[in-house]
Amino acid sequence: MPTGWDTLGQRFDPLLGGITGAPSIERRLRDLRGAFADAAAYEAALAQGDPLIYSVASVEAGSGPGDLHYGVGTLMPGRIGAEYYLTKGHLHAWRPAAEVYIGIRGEGALLLEDEQTGESRLVPLGPHQVVYVPGSTAHRTVNTGDEPLVYLGIYPAAAGHDYAAIAERNFRCVVIAGADGPVLCDRQSFVASLGARP
Ligand code: F6R
Ligand code: ZN
Repeated sequence: MPTGWDTLGQRFDPLLGGITGAPSIERRLRDLRGAFADAAAYEAALAQGDPLIYSVASVEAGSGPGDLHYGVGTLMPGRIGAEYYLTKGHLHAWRPAAEVYIGIRGEGALLLEDEQTGESRLVPLGPHQVVYVPGSTAHRTVNTGDEPLVYLGIYPAAAGHDYAAIAERNFRCVVIAGADGPVLCDRQSFVASLGARP
């Protein structure tokens, strides 16, 4: 009998996220130190409280070479300064591992960055949208709307998570709220513009 035979069918909540009976991790604002570009806005927000930013419920039914894992993420709406609430972001520890994201509720996007070239893309993620994350591509989810962003991510069981590279140098780009919606900006230029603010 294959591993995970008792978890072939799972029920998830398309409004609030979560998978019945599956373990879930939570990330609060204090867990995201260093992730946001506007350090002063981050400290000011943290002084007001430590809200839940996102949670991920995961099903890891098997861990053989052909197995898949999946998770339902729920990313709350909000901003730190001009930057939308975001996930930590990671590369897969096994670099060739790709991932498929499927939007379920809300309005958001995936920030993708090629590890070799640094080329960055912002790809919309919401209901009826599927995003393919190639191997060796750092990925971070942002909520650009005003309700929770709920999505499903499916990836090889062997993928693993490498958070270290992102924790050290962060993504090259930030996603900020512009007058007409989300804008992808160079991080260094954005941080420089904050230094110049009155
Ligand atoms: C799994 C995956 C997602 C993320 C989730 C939370 O490979 O990409 O399930 O784990 O969006 O983001 P991180 O893991 O960056 O905190
Ligand atoms: Zn991933």
